[in-house]
Amino acid sequence: MAKIAVIPGDGIGKEVVREGLKVLEYYNGRENLDLSFEEFDLGAKRYLKTGELVPDSVLNKLETFDAIFLGAVGDPQVQTGILEQGILLKLRFYFDQYINLRPIKLLNDNLSPLKNKGIEEINFTVVRENTEGIYAGIGGFLKKDTPDEIATQEMLSTRKGVDRIIKYAFEYARKNGAKLTLCDKSNVLTYSHNLWQRAFKEMAAEYPDVENDHFLIDAITMKMVRNPEIFDVIVTCNIFGDIITDLGAELQGGMGLAASGNINPETVSMFEPVHGSAPDIAGKGIANPLAAILSAGMILEYLGYTGFNQQVQSAVKKAIERQELTPDMEGDLSTEEVGDSVVKNLKE
Ligand code: NAD
Ligand code: IPM
Ligand code: MN
Repeated sequence: MAKIAVIPGDGIGKEVVREGLKVLEYYNGRENLDLSFEEFDLGAKRYLKTGELVPDSVLNKLETFDAIFLGAVGDPQVQTGILEQGILLKLRFYFDQYINLRPIKLLNDNLSPLKNKGIEEINFTVVRENTEGIYAGIGGFLKKDTPDEIATQEMLSTRKGVDRIIKYAFEYARKNGAKLTLCDKSNVLTYSHNLWQRAFKEMAAEYPDVENDHFLIDAITMKMVRNPEIFDVIVTCNIFGDIITDLGAELQGGMGLAASGNINPETVSMFEPVHGSAPDIAGKGIANPLAAILSAGMILEYLGYTGFNQQVQSAVKKAIERQELTPDMEGDLSTEEVGDSVVKNLKE
């Protein structure tokens, strides 16, 4: 028995979450999982109508759930940042979801944008710190709207925050027999990322069985394109993790395929596609639901059903092989039809 809170959000978030839910409902029926779902209407519509982002009453209620399934937030009618900070970051911070787990796994050689790099080469995981860095919101304006205006945004690294994400990454690498790569900008961020360097080195001494190495953020983007096979697990700060996982999404075959989990094993974790609300295609019924479906698979794994996550990945693989895809992947199916195809593939 597990309670799942569903936050469809804005734009294509609503469209893709519906398809992810089909997969969860399918398992619920087939395996008697006793999953229950409750939807929360957070997003642009509610904000524009009532001024509310995530009311305390909703936060209190969300605390009682086992996991949250989120679509995406962001709407051109609302000033950029308000919904993103007020809903998405609010939930990540409130539940202290310090681990942002973003697998970069190519599911079919034909989807690779890189010459001679296929499913063997493009298969790694980014462990992104999710509660600190320049996302902490420390900073401000001085003399705003004058020619002398000053704006600052501080990059926060706490020893506890950095230690816990690096420890998680070492544990994850150990469990998967993998190498751990630290990605930072320690040559310029000589305070913030110097702390990361020292924390990583000290933690590495406790994991002598886990191979490790290091790349600067600029070089890692080059390596991700040229030699993605050298990576198993990459641990990095909040902003770098954000940026390299959009690059990673493209290595996997596109934004429509990248899934993620915002995790704190002690509180409530939240799963969501890496992509946003895609206002340019919202409402057309052509959004790719595979990232949301793969995120639903991650929920099943998080709840302890590891085998089901692998089955979901196989069903998505079949959809790719059979061209049961939306237009962004050169298919001609609608969002709904792709969701139905994946469920059909699960039944085989
Ligand atoms: P985006 O990810 O929404 O879209 C980038 C491009 O990829 C667009 O051309 C879009 O059409 C395409 N795309 C994305 N997902 C797709 C899918 N499932 N199927 C087909 N095509 C897809 O990024 P953006 O345009 O920079 O941001 C739009 C809004 O979403 C902004 O308000 C932004 O702040 C927000 N955002 C939210 C989240 C989130 O809620 N997790 C993540 C990223 C961006
Ligand atoms: C993501 C998004 C968010 C982030 C935004 C919408 C706040 O880009 O989940 O990757 O920067 O973390
Ligand atoms: Mn992002």
